[in-house]
Amino acid sequence: MSTLDRGKFNSRFGFILAAAGSAIGLGNIWRFPYTAGTHGGGAWVIMYIGFVFLIGVPVLFAELSIGNSTQTSPVTAFKKLVPNSWWPALGGLGVLTGFGILSFYSVIAGLTAMYAGFAIGGKFGGIDIAQSGEIFGQIVASPVWMIGVSFGFLLVTALVVRKGIGGGIEKAATWLMPILFVFLLILVARALTLPTAGEGLAFMFKPQLDEISFQGIVSALGQALFSLSLGMGAMITYGSYLPKEENLPASAMTIAVFDTCIAILAGLVIFPALFLVGAEPDKGPGLIFVVMGGIFDAMPASNLMAFIFYGLLSIAALTSTISLLEVIVAYLVDERGWRRERATWAVASSCFALAVPSALSLGASASLSRITEKKGFLDIVDMLCGTYFLTFGAMLICIFVGWKWGIKAAVAAIEHGGHKMPAVPVWGFLVRYVCPLAIFVLLIYGATQGANW
Ligand code: PHE
Repeated sequence: MSTLDRGKFNSRFGFILAAAGSAIGLGNIWRFPYTAGTHGGGAWVIMYIGFVFLIGVPVLFAELSIGNSTQTSPVTAFKKLVPNSWWPALGGLGVLTGFGILSFYSVIAGLTAMYAGFAIGGKFGGIDIAQSGEIFGQIVASPVWMIGVSFGFLLVTALVVRKGIGGGIEKAATWLMPILFVFLLILVARALTLPTAGEGLAFMFKPQLDEISFQGIVSALGQALFSLSLGMGAMITYGSYLPKEENLPASAMTIAVFDTCIAILAGLVIFPALFLVGAEPDKGPGLIFVVMGGIFDAMPASNLMAFIFYGLLSIAALTSTISLLEVIVAYLVDERGWRRERATWAVASSCFALAVPSALSLGASASLSRITEKKGFLDIVDMLCGTYFLTFGAMLICIFVGWKWGIKAAVAAIEHGGHKMPAVPVWGFLVRYVCPLAIFVLLIYGATQGANW
């Protein structure tokens, strides 16, 4: 199938917005603050940023180079680069991983959209954290609501993906990402003018060295990979829709910097707000619903602020679910020759089937994933796909580029458009040794300790 038939990004700017849209998601605004909060803030945040650039960026380069040089999605790409080998199975693992992540991600994404709707209905005035917790408990206990919102979110995602790359994904990102930035800036301005802004800033940036634990290190690395959408071929797929002449090194750095800035800004919104009502930042995944839901009342224009906050989350989630669905659709289109329309509906509906048990499991454990010790279906899929498969995939991608395909070939692919890649020997060293080893240690620790990052 020619590049034209597959579709492509119409501009580098559109590609960057779409790829940044994939990276920026619930990972930045939901997972980052509560994980930072659980691990004591400051020191963890610095480690996270270190991992983004030491491990995340090298893996990002590796994925973009594979996709861009082969101009096709992961399974087909590995087949092209090493025919008659088991490497295409790595692409297959990515497809499976994407399917699993999309199934639970759309449940939480659906909840954020529902909360944005609550704000329009004026529900955030006059409730405190205890009442907010009660409301949350009632919602997750309602199968109709939980299944309904997950379905709605998958439906919207599919409506974008069926339109293809330029006319669907790029267009959506071009509209949504600027709104996301504006919403976030409004919230940052609001949070930094709260009396507790200093407390929030100190929590995020003052390294408390005694708070560092091995589990914290592991979670920082896992979060860096998850947040940059690495390890399952999303960036291979997006890179394949970019013409070969484009400036890959600059694009990769822009995406990583964007993603990290958004995570930090999200922290700057959430921590001052928490301290405003004396809430602790270590309350786990329920933070953005239970705790934040009870905070808006303490601010003027509470419902408007709540709408902007949950609207921001929904937009961030949507540009990520789009990329997750696209990986699976691209596999069916490139490798199996399906029509995009058919592939999109088939994948979205089977993913919905897997989302149902996740949606119902929140009510059963009366918690939002890991808020209590009891683990539900959503937690298990999150841990398996969002953590183990993703991390394992990232390690194998490094081994592939570093030891099989070769650094030279990868650099030639990256520099194809005539744009020099900086620090090639450093990158080679990181991809061949540092990344696979660091990830290996993380995987072994995670598996033996049952850590759920
Ligand atoms: N990076 C996304 C986020 O931060 C999640 C994601 C992971 C999306 C893997 C695509 C692939 O929310």
